[in-house]
Amino acid sequence: MKQDQPRPTPRAGIMDIEAYVPGKSTAPAGVAKVYKLSANENPLGPSPKAIEAAREVAAKLDVYPDGSARRLREAIAEVHGLNPANIICSNGSDEILGLLAQSYLAPGDEAVFTEHAFMVYKIYIQAAGAKPVAVKETEERADIDAILAAVTPATRIVFLANPNNPTGTYVPFQEVRRLHAALPKNVLLVLDAAYAEYVRRNDYEAGIELAGSSENVVMTRTFSKLGLGGARVGWMYGPAHIVDAINRIRGPFNVNATAIEAGIAAIRDRAHIERSVAHNEKWLAWLSAELTGLGLRVTPSVGNFVLIHFPDGEKHSAAAADDYLSARGYILRRVTGYGFPNALRMSVGTEEANRGVIDALKTFLKS
Ligand SMILES: Cc1ncc(COP(=O)(O)O)c(C=O)c1O
Repeated sequence: MKQDQPRPTPRAGIMDIEAYVPGKSTAPAGVAKVYKLSANENPLGPSPKAIEAAREVAAKLDVYPDGSARRLREAIAEVHGLNPANIICSNGSDEILGLLAQSYLAPGDEAVFTEHAFMVYKIYIQAAGAKPVAVKETEERADIDAILAAVTPATRIVFLANPNNPTGTYVPFQEVRRLHAALPKNVLLVLDAAYAEYVRRNDYEAGIELAGSSENVVMTRTFSKLGLGGARVGWMYGPAHIVDAINRIRGPFNVNATAIEAGIAAIRDRAHIERSVAHNEKWLAWLSAELTGLGLRVTPSVGNFVLIHFPDGEKHSAAAADDYLSARGYILRRVTGYGFPNALRMSVGTEEANRGVIDALKTFLKS
């Protein structure tokens, strides 16, 4: 027995992981009204039907949920035309990304993602003891050839956020198909389509067909961007053998009772989803145009947020803008950790919030 360690120590590599830092949610003291635009939540809030369902479940919180979330899987399957047996629900889609890494990566393996990709991929790859391989993007967009060039015999997973956060850019599905066709069959392609509902492009697909017809593709989705960020509901669709592997290691009751009921009500409330998407379509275009009109560069986004780049120099830097906006109650997201030290990510908000940010930035840039 080893007696020389003064206390328990985590497995090698764990302490090399930089913990995920979520966006701020509070403003400095004294700010009367806070507009949280840092987490890509739905400015229209949850579906009223989901609120009602969550209220009803509150009286039965003593009862364990259905560990397989069968009714939620069936509701998702019905809406998307899928086989519920090929769906796994999770505590947010974050959880399923972690479970995929845990199941398919081991020390010595590699997993590929792009340089500005959603940050949890790297964390989960490292947590599995594998090597994270970040590849260059082209014009803040995933570059399929760069991804393919980074694949080695040690590669086990490619994570592709489509669209990506925090850039908001997407890869046309033809390109995703090209990536899939060129990948070795033993490499798992994870299509993270967290923002799929918001994308309004003819050449975009979330990946349902590809995941349904391949042995090495899964698609992950979330309810978080449609109004249930706090409930934590995510899901994965993929081939039976991958579903089988994940079901062996997930927590037996990984989706809680409130999440299940709120999720079922939310996905069936098509009107609320349509309202949310229409609101986003209108205000995403408005924000992008207004910000560009202020002389700020905006990465072209198809999600429910925009990445705003600030001019060089300290006076009008992203950090200065963040301080200025926060002091007025507008909480945006610093994205230094994503390789954008001089940009802020802003969620599309309510009309009041959107207009408020543009007015504040106008004054800020003149200051
Ligand atoms: C690209 C992407 N994938 C996955 C997630 C995870 O979302 P959740 O765990 O809330 O489902 C997010 C959330 O910000 C995201 O931006």
